[in-house]
Amino acid sequence: MLKKFVFLSLITLTYTASIAQNITTPTYLDETKPVEQRVQDALSRMTLEEKVAMLHAQSKFSSAGVPRLGIPEFWTTDGPHGVRAEVKWDEWDQAGWTNDSIVAFPALTALAATWNKKMSWNYGKALGEEARYRKKDILLGPGINIYRTPLNGRNFEYMGEDPYLTSKMAVPYIQGVQSNGVATSVKHFAFNNQEMFRHTSNVKVDDRAMYEIYLPAFKAAVTEGDSWTIMGAYDKYKDQYSSQNQYLLNDILKGEWNYKGVVISDWGAVNNTEQAIKNGLDLEFGSWTNGLSAGTKNAYDNYYLAQPYLNLIKSGKVGTKELDDKVSRLLNLAYKTTMNKNKPFGSIASEEHKTVAKQVGEEGIVLLKNDKNILPIDLNKVKTIAVIGENAIKMMTVGGGSSSLKAKYEILPLDGIKSRFAKEAEVKFARGYVGDPRGEYNGVKSGQDLKDDRPADVLLNEAVDLAKKSDFVIFVGGLNKSDHQDAEGADRKSYGLPYNQDNLIAALTKANKNFAVVLVSGNAVAMPWVKDVPAIVQAWYLGSEAGHSLASVLSGDTNPSGKLPFTFPVKLEDNAAHRLGEYPGNKEELAAGKGKNQENPINISYNEGIFVGYRWHDTQKIKPQFSFGHGLSYTTFAFGKAKSDKTTMTQDDKITFTFTVKNTGRKAGAEVAQLYIADLKSSVPRPSKELKGFEKVFLNPGEEKEVSITIDKTALSFFDADKHSWVAEPGDFEALIGNASDNIQTKVKFTLQ
Ligand code: GLC
Repeated sequence: MLKKFVFLSLITLTYTASIAQNITTPTYLDETKPVEQRVQDALSRMTLEEKVAMLHAQSKFSSAGVPRLGIPEFWTTDGPHGVRAEVKWDEWDQAGWTNDSIVAFPALTALAATWNKKMSWNYGKALGEEARYRKKDILLGPGINIYRTPLNGRNFEYMGEDPYLTSKMAVPYIQGVQSNGVATSVKHFAFNNQEMFRHTSNVKVDDRAMYEIYLPAFKAAVTEGDSWTIMGAYDKYKDQYSSQNQYLLNDILKGEWNYKGVVISDWGAVNNTEQAIKNGLDLEFGSWTNGLSAGTKNAYDNYYLAQPYLNLIKSGKVGTKELDDKVSRLLNLAYKTTMNKNKPFGSIASEEHKTVAKQVGEEGIVLLKNDKNILPIDLNKVKTIAVIGENAIKMMTVGGGSSSLKAKYEILPLDGIKSRFAKEAEVKFARGYVGDPRGEYNGVKSGQDLKDDRPADVLLNEAVDLAKKSDFVIFVGGLNKSDHQDAEGADRKSYGLPYNQDNLIAALTKANKNFAVVLVSGNAVAMPWVKDVPAIVQAWYLGSEAGHSLASVLSGDTNPSGKLPFTFPVKLEDNAAHRLGEYPGNKEELAAGKGKNQENPINISYNEGIFVGYRWHDTQKIKPQFSFGHGLSYTTFAFGKAKSDKTTMTQDDKITFTFTVKNTGRKAGAEVAQLYIADLKSSVPRPSKELKGFEKVFLNPGEEKEVSITIDKTALSFFDADKHSWVAEPGDFEALIGNASDNIQTKVKFTLQ
């Protein structure tokens, strides 16, 4: 009996082992094996055709996997503020799905205006969950191009004029998104600072400005945020398109920064096979299209990294070194995303996501002016509220180009104000003006019918009459997402508000002293009425929860704590790019009609160099309308005298500045303590101050907290183009601490040895 049992057990064991042997997981699919080994194993199994197929799109937003080996496709999706609606396989048009509505989060200008790194993580995590649930592997965001001119159509998608603020706010967003097994694609590397001529321009920027202003946020995204992909821009730099650019992609990104991730082209940003092979591109999208509308059907075999590449290899004109490097990067990406068995499942339109959208909006709204504290609205006195302006009723989650969304819902300003105030006050609406009554953008229908054919003076008089007989007037205007406003593919044509809003605002200031202007926009605008309007609120594009976030601030439920991520110049000529040029491009070339097509590119010289935004205004002493870092509160704060832990530091030291912030008012609130550094004596021209630290402090009435900010010599350095390295010159420096770039409260001198 025993013998029989032993014999049978042996047979069973041998048989099981043999099965196990047959079904041993191949290395490229075996999670227990090191990634490098899996990559090499996958490469060894792939044919030439399969490798080349992975390098480019197979549809509008997807690229091929290896069906034979079970290596999945990559699915990308716009955009930085929410997951874009599904489009047809080969078209920009909507696919008409009914399961792809999502939460629209606030635009990244609003996120930046929170100056709250934790909020940025929450944002990225929530957005990443929605992308994950929609089975997307690469989220085409965040956009982090620096705010150089107030006319740039896409500023609303980015994080402002300062490289340090943008770096600190982009990194947690990237980490939050990628915690879902969804890659970010930080864009647009590196000089897409305007929309005009974006396909047909060559940017000229000196190395110092490049390394001090335009690259730092991308470097942080790579070295701190570990973004798994980077998106190349359209325009040229040193006469090479940025998505196939030796300098930007090989020398800097993959060279100096040792980037191991994937470089994706912008849609339609590639135009040369050899350059795409040699100059660091890994994944080609959108060729044969202008990146926004038109495209050639099924051009995929003709992509620059498709048949043309295969032909060059087969003819022996190029080797396969670059090919294997590109595919290795894509396989590494796959093991983090498509082939990552441990990634969470995501979620859409959860209460958490709605809360994140509402909170980012509440903390991002900037109270620019509040004379006589007429805000928050005092419901003991105010019984009738007039809401005036098209932006109180116009959906803003749609439009603007590739960041346009099909939101599950959008609480409009008027809805939000009504739902918050209706119990205690009578809320009435008047259109005031007609701007853009359209209800469809890139095929996404808002479903609104904003048509109103009444003449402008009738609309104005109706608004003024309502204002006269109301206790409080809220004007909700600003810009919108139509062309030549806050939209991709075109820049604004002027700095002022469109649709004659200035005229209406002026009339309303005469009608009622209890008057607040709310600007729904993603850019600075001229404010000729600024002296006559007691309260001004910068309300951004706040997504699905817009009306709730705005009403929460107007009612005082939320004490505003937002700070401007970019300067509001009084007039356009006060801006460096418009004072020194070049914008929109070289004058002579512009006059000669350059920039109309890629055969006749136009040069854009960033003559202002490092003097962008407050760096320009402070150094030139040009008083802005509202400064970088500016934002009021419903309470008041006091800064204690700052001290440093040393007065002299060596090149290898750190130095810590400590100070207190006290809430000296009667409402709980938050203050953003900002640390700027001034180099009191330098061998090169330097801005009078540069942001090098910030902390957001939440305080109850009367509460005081000690804040410490530590820096090292990198915060003192400038980029020496001749040495091609950062230099911290010994000498005297000053730490300037305050709650706005033009509101320094305390200073500490110190010396670098
Ligand atoms: C667009 C944009 C880019 C977007 C891509 C896909 O042209 O420049 O930001 O992600 O194409 O829509």
